[in-house]
Amino acid sequence: MTDAVKLVYIETYGCQMNVADTDLIVGLLGRDGFTVTESPEEADVILVNTCAVRDNAEQRVYGRVGELKRHKRPGDVLGVVGCMAQRLGSALLDRIPSVDLVAGPDGYRALPELIRRAAEGTRTAEVEFKPWEHYEDVPPTPANRVSAFVTVQRGCNYRCTFCIVPMTRGPERSRKLADVVREVERHVNAGTTEVTLLGQTVNSYHDGTNDFADLLRAVGAVDGLRRLRFTSPHPNDFNDRVIDAMATVPEVCEHVHLPVQSGSSRVLKRMLRRYTREGYLDCVERLRAAIPNIALTTDIIVGFPGETEDDFLETESLVEAVQFDNAFTFKYSVRDGTPAVKIKDHIPDDVAGERLERLIATVRGVARGRNAGLVGSSHEVLVEKRARRGDLLQTRTRTNKVVLIDGDPQLVGSYLQVRLTGTTGSTFTGVPTSSARMLVVAE
Ligand code: SAH
Ligand code: F3S
Repeated sequence: MTDAVKLVYIETYGCQMNVADTDLIVGLLGRDGFTVTESPEEADVILVNTCAVRDNAEQRVYGRVGELKRHKRPGDVLGVVGCMAQRLGSALLDRIPSVDLVAGPDGYRALPELIRRAAEGTRTAEVEFKPWEHYEDVPPTPANRVSAFVTVQRGCNYRCTFCIVPMTRGPERSRKLADVVREVERHVNAGTTEVTLLGQTVNSYHDGTNDFADLLRAVGAVDGLRRLRFTSPHPNDFNDRVIDAMATVPEVCEHVHLPVQSGSSRVLKRMLRRYTREGYLDCVERLRAAIPNIALTTDIIVGFPGETEDDFLETESLVEAVQFDNAFTFKYSVRDGTPAVKIKDHIPDDVAGERLERLIATVRGVARGRNAGLVGSSHEVLVEKRARRGDLLQTRTRTNKVVLIDGDPQLVGSYLQVRLTGTTGSTFTGVPTSSARMLVVAE
């Protein structure tokens, strides 16, 4: 690798926090003279930012690394970073000889050095947790996006028995409120009007002085910010202060992604989720009482060890009871090093698979019913981008519903009032109402 040509190609897997971390990596490497390329062939450095939450996420990475290594020329560097890198550490170097460096989520500051070493032939794994690490000084990547992610908390202090995240991202730590506000201001000054605050249990945010309610109020007050979202909260951290801030800060959108994992208190206990079915339903009730039109989405795992047919039916009935707008559904995946490995009563794959299919059908039915009821109503949407399909534009309501509309691509980044004209069951079609269009033009 010559000093003159420094191109990095990064592929990102997993959650929004990995997307935000990729921006961090780009900022860090930018400071070291790297430019991003969209082409792995011409890259001097190829990085794969990985997820470890389920085995199939890791299998995909093995497959992808196998393909990407073909683009390596002599002196090029191939690195695996993120949660899978943290989980496997130097074992990953042993397992894949073409990988030159491995760095976990707290190790990105070392990347320029690791890359230099790798180019000279020394392969390294950087997987030490650094509980102080917030990458506060990392230069920002150009924020010319309609919507931006802002990490406010790293790590997780819960210990859900199925989950590898505490082991890959380390202990929970929150950024200082003033630092978060400064980053949001920077995004807004670059033209972004919607921000999503990120954390593994984002509503447990506490910087020593300010809690999540303070954070919502402070970020909501940033001049020019129009929409404020956050993901993912934990049900136990929705105290009345936080719910009150959500209800009273006008920028906070009417959507919460609230992972439930199971509808059975017995399973929830084994998962160490620290709430019961009733506790979750109570949280939903308090959110709905404060924010009547709130949309709710969730994550659900089926086939957790010991899950009986009755437990599963309780999950199905919870989906019906809550009337989720959508749910991400997963088959339980054993993660080495998590407490659930020791729980007996493994559920056979075909049983888990069949439950997953039934659950998907239930989730779809509930979502379809809710969405059908919205056709005809009017919503403010943010125009995000050109839709993949045809000449349409992809827009989003405050409640996180995707609405496809006809319109000029110049409208990307603007807000319109639209009437929903139809639904596929999950997404909508809509037409801008003329007064809103004039309003935007007049702005
Ligand atoms: N606290 C994070 C959770 C990260 S993992 C958040 O709320 O964003 C994202 C989702 O993956 C979890 O909510 C859970 O539903 C699922 N998941 C985690 N570990 C899993 C496992 N071992 N098997 C299957 N799904 C899992
Ligand atoms: Fe995982 Fe539970 Fe934390 S799902 S990220 S251990 S809240």
